[in-house]
Amino acid sequence: MARFPQAPFPLTGQTISLLGGAGFVGHALAARLGARGARVLIPTRRPEQVRELKLIPGVQLIEADVFDPATLERLCQSSSAVINLVGILNERGHDGSGFRRAHVELTERVIAACQSAGTPRLLHMSALNADEQGPSHYLRTKGEAERKVHAAASNGKLAVVSFRPSVIFGPGDSFLNRFAGLIRRMPGVFPLARADARFAPVYVGDVVAAFLHALETRELEGQALDLCGPRDYTLGELVTYTAQLIDHPLTVLPLPDWAARMQARVMEYLPGKPFSRDNLASLSLPSVCPEACPRQPTALEAIAPRYLRR
Ligand SMILES: NC(=O)c1ccc[n+]([C@@H]2O[C@H](COP(=O)([O-])OP(=O)(O)OC[C@H]3O[C@@H](n4cnc5c(N)ncnc54)[C@H](OP(=O)(O)O)[C@@H]3O)[C@@H](O)[C@H]2O)c1
Repeated sequence: MARFPQAPFPLTGQTISLLGGAGFVGHALAARLGARGARVLIPTRRPEQVRELKLIPGVQLIEADVFDPATLERLCQSSSAVINLVGILNERGHDGSGFRRAHVELTERVIAACQSAGTPRLLHMSALNADEQGPSHYLRTKGEAERKVHAAASNGKLAVVSFRPSVIFGPGDSFLNRFAGLIRRMPGVFPLARADARFAPVYVGDVVAAFLHALETRELEGQALDLCGPRDYTLGELVTYTAQLIDHPLTVLPLPDWAARMQARVMEYLPGKPFSRDNLASLSLPSVCPEACPRQPTALEAIAPRYLRR
């Protein structure tokens, strides 16, 4: 199991810019950074919807467009580290340009701003299986962005770490909670695309611990860190487990590939795009870590019942 020991570069008094900090991972990370005495700047398009973040000591919400170079420059100038959590699972359109903008173009701007302001550290959130040759727009653009982040470190002035989690669980997650919402509307049978797809769900607290370790030590500099929980599951097992927790027993009906493609094609036109052909393509790769990779310690079964059971 990976454990991160206490470390020598305290965060007290440091200013950290947390791009995408108003999301699920951002909430957990902001809380821990604030508790460590850091000042945390969170630019967001929707400050009114995440007002609770202001209650965390040290957190400052800024209504801003993170794509604006002047905004990025100001954030970078006042920060000893920038963390980029911005990411999307689905784009508005269908041609990959939305993924490219959120993942690659924003990352290019963040790197340029860090370099121009002389910010010493950039922590970048990628994803397990991110790869420029990957099967989906999501994985290809995540891979391209991650490569650019590591290339930016080559002049020795910007220290970078990238993080490559499998699916992340914890209170407020959009994975188990989304399935719980869907399951509640199902009459007892759940038609599931790629029910045999594999995941190693990792606890958001462990992901946050990895980010803190990267800030408080220099041990992870230059690394691309795969983050997996202690056990692998199939998607079918995760849906069945979620159904048990919310006391809504059901049978998972694994869809054959042709039906999964049809389901994705229909669902990507529903409001909020709950599932898409791009998601289906990402599921073609197992989202699990290699044997040799140390696993993060927290078990799904230790946490999920606390927030999924009502
Ligand atoms: N959750 C997982 O299971 C998981 C697994 C692997 C990798 N990741 C990666 O981890 C990161 C954080 O995930 P999360 O679950 O915390 O995501 P999330 O809850 O959806 O939050 C994403 C954040 O990104 C920002 N964002 C998205 N699109 C944007 C755009 N076009 N312009 C400006 N801001 C934009 C949002 O900012 P606003 O506040 O302005 O809306 C939001 O705060 C993402 O990069 C994701 O790809 C997540």
